[in-house]
Amino acid sequence: MKKLSIVVLISGNGSNLQSIIDAVEAEQVNGQITAVISNKADAYGLQRAKKHNIDQQVVGHKDFSSREDFDIALLKELTRLKPDIIVLAGFMRILGSALIQAFERKILNIHPSILPNYKGLNTFQRAIDNKEKEHGVSIHIVTPELDDGPVIVRGRYPILTGETASELQRKGHQLEHKMYSQVLKWLGRGDLQINADTITFQDKLLERPIEFESRETQ
Ligand code: GRF
Repeated sequence: MKKLSIVVLISGNGSNLQSIIDAVEAEQVNGQITAVISNKADAYGLQRAKKHNIDQQVVGHKDFSSREDFDIALLKELTRLKPDIIVLAGFMRILGSALIQAFERKILNIHPSILPNYKGLNTFQRAIDNKEKEHGVSIHIVTPELDDGPVIVRGRYPILTGETASELQRKGHQLEHKMYSQVLKWLGRGDLQINADTITFQDKLLERPIEFESRETQ
């Protein structure tokens, strides 16, 4: 199978990026990261990319006078790179619908909640405040509505009595790192296929999100 060409978009630390780099370097993913693009020049994830000789670029949102102009610059770069899949890994800008449509069903995002619950920010504290018993992580296809596209996989972890938002965030991150590389493994070997109208997983129509079990990762 052809190698998956992956572009990762970041804004900050890039720990998810690191987990993807590690999985690609260990040849667990049939793919290559062709570029890492950040909207912030000081994102630590850029240094991670540099260390692994991956092309890094900055498309700084502050360098453009409007959201549309930023999107046009990013679209131009992505069009040049022609990725099979664009991975948003802590990318903290909302993409415009023209860009999303240009790469329809090719953009994935990771969100720290069991979608469709807790879209948006501060999901950990909101879950604690609502006395939820569990929280989680979702990977979904990006559509113009925020945190709203079809969910491919969801992972869960318990919220224990007295746990703080930062403790939940730490647990969530560990799960995220396993989940993103797993999804790319599935995509790279064709187990997961995202088509125009359907998603198939191991040749079966995916009718509901995959429930991620970390012990089952392979
Ligand atoms: C992750 O927690 C993800 O859920 C959210 O942004 C965070 C990025 O972390 N979308 P990192 O930059 O990958 O460390």
